[in-house]
Amino acid sequence: MTTRFTGIKLGPPIEVFALQKAFVDDSYENKVNLSIGAYRTSEGKPWVLPVVRKVEKSLAADDLQNHEYLPVLGLDAFSEAATSMLLGADSPVIVQGRAFGIQSLSGTGSLRVTAEFLNRVLQYDTFYYSKPSWENHRLVFTNGGFKHAREYTYWDKETRSIDIEGMLSDLRNAPENAVIILHACAHNPTGCDPTPEQWAKIADVIEEKRLFPLFDSAYQGFASGDLDKDAYAVRMFAERGIEFICTQSFAKNFGLYNERVGNIVFVLNDTKELVQAKSQLALIIRGMYSNPPNHGARIVATVLRNPILFEEWKEHIRTMSDRIKEMRIGLQHRLLKLGTPGVWDHIVQQIGLFSYTGLTERQVQHLRNHYHIYMLRSGRVNMCGLNESNLDYVAGAIHETITLLPETRDLHCKC
Ligand code: LMR
Repeated sequence: MTTRFTGIKLGPPIEVFALQKAFVDDSYENKVNLSIGAYRTSEGKPWVLPVVRKVEKSLAADDLQNHEYLPVLGLDAFSEAATSMLLGADSPVIVQGRAFGIQSLSGTGSLRVTAEFLNRVLQYDTFYYSKPSWENHRLVFTNGGFKHAREYTYWDKETRSIDIEGMLSDLRNAPENAVIILHACAHNPTGCDPTPEQWAKIADVIEEKRLFPLFDSAYQGFASGDLDKDAYAVRMFAERGIEFICTQSFAKNFGLYNERVGNIVFVLNDTKELVQAKSQLALIIRGMYSNPPNHGARIVATVLRNPILFEEWKEHIRTMSDRIKEMRIGLQHRLLKLGTPGVWDHIVQQIGLFSYTGLTERQVQHLRNHYHIYMLRSGRVNMCGLNESNLDYVAGAIHETITLLPETRDLHCKC
């Protein structure tokens, strides 16, 4: 039989999902999954946040809920609450009506809509993403119409810290209107964020060179356990009067991974462009997925707008970020106790869900082949894949691997 589909090239696997599947298919009893960025409890289980479960039950029992279409730009109650969470309820840009949010599909969908808006409507064609970055940034922006994908220096592997001078120099050389993708907090994969002083320098260059900042905020609350602290950079840009867009994902901080809850926040200098911008966004979304889903956004809106539920949720965020911190200490402590070659301060100094361990690709492969421990080939590990039952096993495996394949750089972290 002939087929029209002859000759289709096999695409490369998507690393994080391929690893997830390989882990699920692995029948080894002591296997450990440190790959995909999703929270796990101390029993190694996914966590439906109790406040989310509670709201889901009340929504299910509410006869006024239905399955009608949402507007193209989503639920206003959700977008307004999410925008306040990011910028602060009394933020001048909100009070002055210069900020608005629209609902989209988690982080990726929000970035994709944003890319298309920036490319088609504002005609920007060059974007910069950090080296290294979340591996999807490049694909999303290229699919969104951007012609020129460029990296800016971020990571200094010698010192395991941000190469701020390299970053600033790359930004200074970027063409006017280049879109600069910045991680709002808990940089993925390095777990290393700029300090306030470094953020100020980044903002200076962005203003001076007339670049366009796009914040990707996927981990608000996960970096420090405090929503306001984690919004520092975004709020500082708003205070300085810099126009920007910020895409928010509620996958991690609400544990709503498969509900695709996202918000795109616009901060503009002039309110008179707001209606036109929204109309163009509506056309982009209408042609892409028509309108967003209700369930997850309704949960987030309910929690953010109810002071009691909001406090409960903030407590959940602290539980998650505290557990991650404990695992950092637990791993570092064990590696030091074993006398594992290398310096392990960076494990506790990095923040957020991930640690950029410094393990080499060969060591990562060895850990998978010999110990059934799964992590990204960059050496990024999801810290909450660790728990009291597997910490000794993982630390021992890392120790044995580094001893056998001594490739880790013995350097200090200045995060
Ligand atoms: C991750 O970085 O592991 C997560 O954000 C999942 C993904 O989509 O890559």
